[in-house]
Amino acid sequence: MSMRNLLKTGFRRIVGGAPSSPTPQRARGTKNATVIAVAAQKGGVGKTTTSVNVAAALARFHGQRVLLVDLDPQGHVNTALSEQIRVGGGALSDVLVGDEGLEVLDVVTPTHVENLDVTPFDAQLGTTENLLSTRIGKEFVLRDALEVTRTFYDVIVIDCPPNLGNLTLNGLVAADQVLIPCDPSPLAVSGVHSLVDAIRGVARLNPNIDVLGVLMTRVDGRNTTLNSAITAELATDFGDAVLPVTIGINSQIAKAQHAGVDIFGYAAASRGAQNYRALAEHIVTALAPTS
Ligand SMILES: Nc1ncnc2c1ncn2[C@@H]1O[C@H](COP(=O)(O)OP(=O)(O)O)[C@@H](O)[C@H]1O
Ligand SMILES: [Mg+2]
Repeated sequence: MSMRNLLKTGFRRIVGGAPSSPTPQRARGTKNATVIAVAAQKGGVGKTTTSVNVAAALARFHGQRVLLVDLDPQGHVNTALSEQIRVGGGALSDVLVGDEGLEVLDVVTPTHVENLDVTPFDAQLGTTENLLSTRIGKEFVLRDALEVTRTFYDVIVIDCPPNLGNLTLNGLVAADQVLIPCDPSPLAVSGVHSLVDAIRGVARLNPNIDVLGVLMTRVDGRNTTLNSAITAELATDFGDAVLPVTIGINSQIAKAQHAGVDIFGYAAASRGAQNYRALAEHIVTALAPTS
């Protein structure tokens, strides 16, 4: 008997019987969501604002079934939508580090925005980062937990934390597309470089991964010198990965977040609403199957 077979026999003796799949069959939907991770190494560049308002725009204006996953332990998605999230759902940390074989679908909750579901605030998500590091295959936990979930949605938007830790890594491995917000500051630009390096590394685990684009956010219309300097730098470094749509500074955006309502529910005619609606249009076009 070859060594290989011996090992297999020994393995069966230890684990008992042939390797089996213990997870029960789940009902599957008919969709196959595009998973968009919104990620940036730096905080305060508009990740959450972009996640929330892109998700809301896709649900409101494009009739898409959208799930917004709050992967940031700070729970800012829930702050930003506090008036629109319906009570319910469960803890994403149970999905990521629990033993019950939960899917993300098991913890989602609907919002008052039709077709938009979210994962609710989870106070335990902060400890998940460390718990994940001891798991074998830790990079694949979220991707696996979206396997059935994604058959019920057209788009899944993941709001990642502002670092390149295990949670963000899970977001990137689960993603088909990465949307990278960047505000006009040199630190943010250098953060884009770190993230792009990380995405190159992740491509070995997730050959599907693609960059949807670098999104200029919080663009101050009055500070044209800085804007053009940063825009030129981004164009040199990232070429046409820099999106043609940009998000201007607009106080309604911050006010909407404070009020706990997406920008379209708060100030539908504002510049911020127009900008995010244009971004959603761009994304729908960019992701449309070319035939
Ligand atoms: N276009 C914008 N105009 C004005 N304020 C903005 C804009 N985008 C984001 N903000 C504000 O900037 C802060 C950081 O944005 P946020 O989306 O939470 O960043 P991140 O998730 O990257 O940390 C928030 O207070 C938000 O309201
Ligand atoms: Mg955030």
